[in-house]
Amino acid sequence: MAIEQTLAIIKPDAVKQKHIGNIIAKIEAAQFNIQQAFMLQLAQEEAAEFYHIHAEKPFFNDLTSFMSSGPVMVMILEKENAIADWRALMGATNPKEADADTIRALYAQSIDENAVHGSDSPETAFEEITFFFEADESLDLEELLDEAETSS
Ligand code: CMP
Repeated sequence: MAIEQTLAIIKPDAVKQKHIGNIIAKIEAAQFNIQQAFMLQLAQEEAAEFYHIHAEKPFFNDLTSFMSSGPVMVMILEKENAIADWRALMGATNPKEADADTIRALYAQSIDENAVHGSDSPETAFEEITFFFEADESLDLEELLDEAETSS
């Protein structure tokens, strides 16, 4: 299985409720390497650009105002199968449907304020990582993307 990178965001609700440490502990217990990380507060226009694939959805305005309502932590997580494994560790988008012991089951309130975000495919991982981070020195993301495309 290939080493992958994925983008993780600890959202404003989880930052406000002081769950950064708990979430990072679960990330490390699950054997991800946190390859890069920093905190920032997005402008609403930046949140809209990041979530552009949801622009037509009824929840888009609420989503972008929530994501710009306070600081977030963005991270590049790295391990074998990182994209699917991070999604599994997050749990379902709606915390009411999330499996026990997933991050959203433990720390999220609602589908709108659901503690964490993760990329959903190699293509979005590439797009989302390069939205926040300079091209990575240690992994050739474009090469990984090509590999993922040729093997699917
Ligand atoms: P995230 O994985 O960050 O991607 C888009 C976000 O939109 C999602 O988490 C939810 O927090 C939010 N959202 C709000 N309503 C919905 C919905 N009905 N379906 C999917 N995502 C939703």
